[in-house]
This record gives sequence, C-alpha cells and structure tokens, in this order.
Amino acid sequence: GAWLFTPVSKMTTVKSELIDKVSIIGTGSVGMACAISILLKGLSDELAFVDLDEGKPKDYLVMANPSLVIITAGACQEKGETRLHLVYLLCKLIIVSNPVDILTYEAWKLSAFPKNRVIGSGCSLDTARFLFLIGQKLRIHSESCHGCILGEHGDSSVPVWSGVNIAGVLLRDLISDIGTDKNPEQWKNVHEEVIASAYEIIKVKSSTSWAIRLSVADLTESILKNIRRTQPVSTIIKGLCGINEKIFLKKGITSLIKIKLTAEEEAHMKNSAKTLWEIQKELQP
Ligand code: 2OP
Repeated sequence: GAWLFTPVSKMTTVKSELIDKVSIIGTGSVGMACAISILLKGLSDELAFVDLDEGKPKDYLVMANPSLVIITAGACQEKGETRLHLVYLLCKLIIVSNPVDILTYEAWKLSAFPKNRVIGSGCSLDTARFLFLIGQKLRIHSESCHGCILGEHGDSSVPVWSGVNIAGVLLRDLISDIGTDKNPEQWKNVHEEVIASAYEIIKVKSSTSWAIRLSVADLTESILKNIRRTQPVSTIIKGLCGINEKIFLKKGITSLIKIKLTAEEEAHMKNSAKTLWEIQKELQP
C-alpha cells in the first residue's frame, strides 16, 4: 500500500531466536509501573533493571542482549553513555523520559542506532487521554473512538480533529467547526483538558506514572509480538513536519502512515515542530 505507507525499514518474516528480554533503565515510579504492566501482560521472558541510585537494582551483566530497552530515567539522573553502550545492537529503544521528543532525538544520536529502532512514547498518552475524553463527552467507550494527537508530547500538541471518527463516521462531517473557537459545543476544551491533565495530576501527586505505563506496555506489545499496530510515537521525521503515526514490527518502526491533515492542522504541526527544534538546536554538539 504505497498510497498509505512511507516505508521506514524492510519488513522481515525471520523469527528471532532470542528470548524476549526487556531492560528498564530507571527504577523510579514510571520504570516500576511499566515493569508491572509488562509483567501482567506476560510480554517478556526476562526483565532487567538498571538505575544509578545506590541500593536500587544495578547489575549491568543482566542487561546483556535485550530485545527492547525502555528508558524512563528522569531528568535529575546523570545520563551515562555507558548505559547506552550496554545495549546489544539488535535491540530497540523506547524512550519515556521527558522531554520525550527531545530525548528520543538525543538517544538516537548517542546510540547511533537506525532511526526505526529508537522510539519515543510521544503522543501515545496524549492520544489515550484525548480518546477517553471524547468518549466521555459522547458517552461512548473510548475504544470505539478513533483519532490521534500528533506533534510534541506537551503544550504544543496537535489534535487531528479532521480524522476523529466513531465507527467510521467523521465527527467533522457532522460538526464542521469542531475543535475551533467558533464551535458552540466547545470541543476545543477536550484538547485543552488533555494538555491540562498532566499538570493537574502533578499538582495532586507530584508525578504521573500509572497512565504512561499502559502506553509503554502497548508499545512493548506491538514490538515484541509483532502485531503491526499503528501508534502515535516520537521518531525522526525530518521533512514530514512532525507526522508521527507509526506501525510497529519486531524491528521497531516499519512505516509511517500518511495522515491527511487540514491546512490548519498542518500549520499547528509546523508550530509544534518549531517549538521542539528551538530547543533541539541548542543541544547540537
Ligand atoms: C504525562 O503527560 C508528565 O509526560 C507526563 O503524564
């Protein structure tokens, strides 16, 4: 389907003979929450943990030959190159640490991995929050609401209202001004609530961890089980003004979905990409 996909890597049907080991870097609340979800879903044969803090699991040997490395280590931890060097070349990296889009880019540069093997959790959580809130507004189960948020995992994220649909019925066909200021039902507030939700959770319990673990477990499942699911993630999208919808395979990202955006949505994407680039360019060596 060249009309739908931009290939990122070659698909393979070769079954890996390695066991699926998942290594989690950072054993704080996010790392441990991710571990619980991965265990409950029965996704990995082995789990390994690494953290810089004394007293926390710290056995670099157990890190050898993972299928997937999930980086959740927070901003206050020192970023040690040695950890990235421990990574066996066949593995994939999932970056969860914030600012996730920027750290995914940095991890890709540091690791020297092919771009399809370095994946940020990106807007997967924003999208889950978005679909949940749309479901609440319509009184429909969120799994029956389809759509995505793209761009920065943060304040400049872009809700793709033009694609939001229930059973294939585009909301925009029924509510032509959906997501705009003109709309009397104020659907725009749904996206504003998505942006506000992390701030509110942090106000109440100082950090968020239980929601992101579900996104990370889904990403882990998509990769390790090879199920070719589309998910909005952070990846290197040079030239595509930040369009982030992907399909995963054992190899990591296999294709980008060519999402059709309205002119307004595309302008928002460019703005979100610019927001990230303003910071990223300061980090250039
Ligand atoms: C979240 O959105 C803070 O990125 C974290 O929950």
